[in-house]
Amino acid sequence: MKILVTGTEGYLGSLLPPLFIERGHEVTGVDTGFYKVGWLYNGTEVTAKTLNKDIRNITPKDLQGIEAVVHMAELSNDPTGQLAPNITYDINHHGSVRLATLAKEAGVRRFVYMSSCSVYGVATEGDVTEESPVNPQTAYAECKTLVERDVMLLADDNFSPTFMRNATAFGASPRMRFDIVLNNLAGLAWTTKEIKMISDGTPWRPLVHALDICKAIVCTIEAPRDIVHKQIFNVGDTANNYRVKEIAEIIAEVFVGCQLSFGENGADNRSYRVSFEKINTMLPGFKCDWNAQLGAQQLFNLFNQIDMTEDTFLFRGFTRLKQLEYLIRTQQIDQDFFWNKK
Ligand SMILES: NC(=O)c1ccc[n+]([C@@H]2O[C@H](COP(=O)([O-])OP(=O)(O)OC[C@H]3O[C@@H](n4cnc5c(N)ncnc54)[C@H](O)[C@@H]3O)[C@@H](O)[C@H]2O)c1
Repeated sequence: MKILVTGTEGYLGSLLPPLFIERGHEVTGVDTGFYKVGWLYNGTEVTAKTLNKDIRNITPKDLQGIEAVVHMAELSNDPTGQLAPNITYDINHHGSVRLATLAKEAGVRRFVYMSSCSVYGVATEGDVTEESPVNPQTAYAECKTLVERDVMLLADDNFSPTFMRNATAFGASPRMRFDIVLNNLAGLAWTTKEIKMISDGTPWRPLVHALDICKAIVCTIEAPRDIVHKQIFNVGDTANNYRVKEIAEIIAEVFVGCQLSFGENGADNRSYRVSFEKINTMLPGFKCDWNAQLGAQQLFNLFNQIDMTEDTFLFRGFTRLKQLEYLIRTQQIDQDFFWNKK
């Protein structure tokens, strides 16, 4: 299949094309390159040819001959959403809906959208399912619900969108992110030998390895249309719902010698447990290969191998908010987050 993947220079997007290419698909990437400076290790020999372009400037020509789109290129977390809520709506909501509309007009048959479990928002009784009401708490999460709503309306006999509500990712990627919980705690444990939490660590966080997200996408693209048409899938494994405290304990076990302490603050408006029953029973071939222990061990081995320094861990290229703030402050991107041509 001819597949266009947006966000190929990101944390998840850099891991996906090799999997498609190995399975005989043809991949073109699109990315504007906000985090291009962040490259932790040489991870793969197979990469996709990537168009250096903002998704807001995609034209029908870019979509000619494409059979499936996997759309990952957005401002990718709550803090970046808070940095510039208007731009988050511009890129994440309007940019994504425009891309899906153009894709449909160009004859693209499959559209896989990267949504997030953060759409569920606050704590509820029991595990939330795809049928549970959404309750987004941030501009980032609200945009995910708006894209789901609007792109769902485009579905017809020739256009099949699928919405992946990913748990919080973890694990190694050449385009590393240290601003997501497990990776951050692992980096702290490695560089400072100390994890000092202000909170009591009781909130729930469903986690999923970056490679398991990629596996879910591959399974979706290759699944019979009727299984994925207009479907929402929570992406992860019900056994991988952890309390933040448990994630820290797992890290401290793997990173031997790391001191662990907790505070008393229990307030957190993003605590939820998620059911991943649907994807595990409906999507052919999907089952997570990873859990938090295996991910922590993978990161320990990686940091050890590359002899990771504190400077590397703290480098802006690995923390989405820091890098965007830097690009704004140095006027490399303008107020609308387009690259300054001057
Ligand atoms: N990582 C997670 O824990 C997680 C969890 C749930 C959902 N998701 C979603 O998965 C997707 C990928 O996440 P990630 O962690 O790889 O994020 P990332 O920030 O590492 O990658 C996003 C990529 O998109 C590019 N991009 C951003 N805006 C763009 C634009 N306007 N035009 C072109 N390119 C643009 C960036 O340059 C970056 O390379 C995002 O949509 C994110 O919201 C991620």
